[in-house]
Amino acid sequence: MTTTTASHAADLVAALLFILSLAGLSQHRTSRAGVVYGIAGMALALVATIVLAAQSITAGAVALIVLAMVLGGAAGLWRARRVEMTQMPELIAVLHSFVGLAAVLVGWNGYLEVEAHGSAQTLVSADLLGIHHAEVFIGIFIGGVTFTGSIVAFLKLSARIASRPLTLPGKNILNLGALAAFAGLTAWFTAGPGLGLMVAVTVLALLLGWHLVASIGGGDMPVVVSMLNSYSGWAAAAAGFLLDNNLLIVTGALVGSSGAYLSYIMCRAMNRSFISVIAGGFGIEAPSGGDEEQGEHREVRAEEAAGLLAQARSVVITPGYGMAVAQAQHPVAELTRRLRERGVEVRFGVHPVAGRLPGHMNVLLAEAKVPYDIVLEMDEINDDFGKTDVVLVIGANDTVNPAATDDPTSPIAGMPVLRVWEAEQVIVFKRSMASGYAGVQNPLFFRENSTMLFGDAKQSVDAILQALPGDARTTTDRPVRQHTTAG
Ligand code: TAP
Repeated sequence: MTTTTASHAADLVAALLFILSLAGLSQHRTSRAGVVYGIAGMALALVATIVLAAQSITAGAVALIVLAMVLGGAAGLWRARRVEMTQMPELIAVLHSFVGLAAVLVGWNGYLEVEAHGSAQTLVSADLLGIHHAEVFIGIFIGGVTFTGSIVAFLKLSARIASRPLTLPGKNILNLGALAAFAGLTAWFTAGPGLGLMVAVTVLALLLGWHLVASIGGGDMPVVVSMLNSYSGWAAAAAGFLLDNNLLIVTGALVGSSGAYLSYIMCRAMNRSFISVIAGGFGIEAPSGGDEEQGEHREVRAEEAAGLLAQARSVVITPGYGMAVAQAQHPVAELTRRLRERGVEVRFGVHPVAGRLPGHMNVLLAEAKVPYDIVLEMDEINDDFGKTDVVLVIGANDTVNPAATDDPTSPIAGMPVLRVWEAEQVIVFKRSMASGYAGVQNPLFFRENSTMLFGDAKQSVDAILQALPGDARTTTDRPVRQHTTAG
């Protein structure tokens, strides 16, 4: 077998490993295996690429590639080990910007090697030359949009710039105009490539990426991150065409399509129009709701909460971003274990955009070894709140806000939420009356059946654990309320 054939075979195996990785990552139980498949696929792809490249480049160049990989790998490992779970979206945004930048550089490199070379026909056959021109242009465009879009997403997510949407006059016209200009420039470039056009498309893409993401409000940032993930995949696929690397094309397409699908699912979960969000907030008005308080709230102490839980028959825990900030998942898991030992039915209701990244709560609960079968999605638990004795809202806010269903003027109107208020008692764990990510007040806090347990969520759950009566309860201690299902 020649090195080239072996390298193509390795590409095929790596592509299959990436597909297995995606399949594995789609379920908690198999997610570790999914990560291992992904690592194996990437390691194989890197080795195959270097071995193939070594045939046509000097040993010094190979050494430079290995050095770059070691430096990049070390930097990546250092960052990934230090990053807090709550900072993951920012890190992901930065990583997407690298993919975008790489695609821009690959595009420029393709231009310098072929179009700018003066003897293009000798390097690429005449039939394929037009396609090469288009590949260069499209790769730079997608890469440029991904690069600056991801940087703005990083700046917004890390609160380095305000998360409210930028509303330039005629912002939709600007975006549509940029797309039309790109189409025109592409036609021009394929007819007669030139340096001026290269500079024009690069600047256009960088400005459009910046404007697209700057125009999107903080509430839609989860979708933006997954949309940029999709763009970064398409940018990689475009680079794959230019580099004649099949594996990069397949991998880019996998990332591009799965990112697009994830964006679509998240838009559905938040009742946002997918097209509006990918078009830079097309037709989305800036939020107008305030965060002023809307009545009296009642407070509860940890000891009273423990008493309520000890008497409950069914408990649902709805975790949110605050649980991640407080790192309360371990005491929450311990509380779950203790309550279940007492015969209380405990389940979790996880909103699709709870926390700050897709699957955030699931990862934390899995880390704390909460059994998978009691962690339910919003649609699976929403009809059961009416039959629940106590709901513990642990650091969640927007995802349990009744204004989303009751108030058509609310900035989060129409977003499906966990209907926790239908339970007999709701205990909200947070530190203050401050609003959540979307910046809107939550009428749940002022409902008759809601009480606030103020303080850091971890300390509050620890205090409940301390106060929870140690002896298991007999069935006669249970409240008399009738239940029809146990879920
Ligand atoms: P949020 O609405 O963000 O509210 C979190 C709450 O946690 C806050 O009200 C905060 O109140 C409380 N909190 C913070 N630190 C705490 C601590 N140490 N102990 C106790 N409570 C603490 O949370 P959510 O319900 O999870 O909603 C997520 C929001 O983020 C949605 O608007 C979503 O669109 C957005 N978002 C989601 C994602 C993804 S993909 N999941 C990505 C980006 C943005 P206090 O300050 O008063 O404690």
